[in-house]
Amino acid sequence: MTIEVPTERIAFPDGFAWGSAACAHQTEGGNWNSDWWEWEHRPGTPCIEVSGDAIDHYNRYDSDFELLASLGHNAHRFGIEWARIEPEPGEISKAALDHYARVIESLHRNNLTPFMTLHHFSSPRWFAAEGGWASETAVDRFRRFAEVVAKRLEVPFVCTINEPQIVAQIGYQGTGFPPGAGENYLFGPVTRNFIASHGAAVEVFKEHQPSAQIGLVLATADYQAANEESVKLRDRVHHRMVGVYHDALRTGVFTGFGDDEELRGVGGTSDFVGVNYYTRTVIDVNERGNAQMPKPGAETTQMGYEVVPECFVTVLKLAHEKTGLPVYVTENGIGTDDDHQRVRFIARHLTAVRQAIDEGADVRGYMYWCPMDNFEWTFGFSRTFGLIAVDRTTFERTPKPSASYFAEICRANAIDPVVTASYLES
Ligand code: FCB
Repeated sequence: MTIEVPTERIAFPDGFAWGSAACAHQTEGGNWNSDWWEWEHRPGTPCIEVSGDAIDHYNRYDSDFELLASLGHNAHRFGIEWARIEPEPGEISKAALDHYARVIESLHRNNLTPFMTLHHFSSPRWFAAEGGWASETAVDRFRRFAEVVAKRLEVPFVCTINEPQIVAQIGYQGTGFPPGAGENYLFGPVTRNFIASHGAAVEVFKEHQPSAQIGLVLATADYQAANEESVKLRDRVHHRMVGVYHDALRTGVFTGFGDDEELRGVGGTSDFVGVNYYTRTVIDVNERGNAQMPKPGAETTQMGYEVVPECFVTVLKLAHEKTGLPVYVTENGIGTDDDHQRVRFIARHLTAVRQAIDEGADVRGYMYWCPMDNFEWTFGFSRTFGLIAVDRTTFERTPKPSASYFAEICRANAIDPVVTASYLES
């Protein structure tokens, strides 16, 4: 059954977290000591433009948070930049830590519950030069960074690593993200290092900041089999991309991919699982496992993703069932220049969240991706997911109608069909 724009009022549980999610590299600007900056400037880079000043969030965070608070949000997911905090191995920038302490203060002042992400795709250049996530030292390096942060930056919620699967897939197996290794065999060891690094960060926070709720943020497409013959392949792909993380979160054990090592004590004491959801992936063994493109006529986005809110129900339920943990939607959003499409997208996807809750998933919050149009990795500034537009020369912020629509939902803790209709008509 498809999920349409709701025609009845839909309310959310008391205390539901409402906000948006952003990332340091995509918003701060001037992140020159990171592997991503180097990647953007490398000859032959797949990036269509550089991040440059991004949206100057490094300087404008305070007024940005004030704006988000005025738009009804009560939570905010933000990232800190490892390359700024630890510019050389073991060398800690007190100034960078002080900056992020002020960022956290500003969030509290604006009544936005901080969800702090330690790693969101970008790493320090020195970490990349050591071999990045494929290196034998990766876990110890990340543990040391996490410890510095845990001792200084106090927050109620910590997201250790954002979408490790995407980095393993696109950066190590593929060539689209740094380091662009293009080596299939690296997927396993990189996945292992990510899971172990999550576990290390959990340990460190439990020791130095036991009040923080700590979790991992997963990319969670709904993996579907195009036909009966593709079910086995679908299961294998799902296990490699998502299942191993679910298992590690539930049991504390990373079982490898059947042929390699087992790793114990890796995150079994996590407090929540973060779900990032955008679309489904259809696996077809007859097309050499390639995902089918959306069928002709399907609604799509600037990223070419198919809009399928029904699949959101599936991934939320699965995340809860497989990990036994509370779930936060740490990202869900749409790149589009049609703001009515964004309003429809939000209404339908929140209906899916409510359905997942009704069917047993313990979902406790929803963070729209993303507050402001920003640097969308290889696509530069060409993809507009934001609730708020940003003028690239003046950095002026202009909320879109969808920002006001989302504000109505946040304030009411509910979707109102009359309000929704008014935004779709205007
Ligand atoms: C997610 C990333 C985020 C952004 C959105 C569109 O995979 O975590 O940084 O690129 O997609």
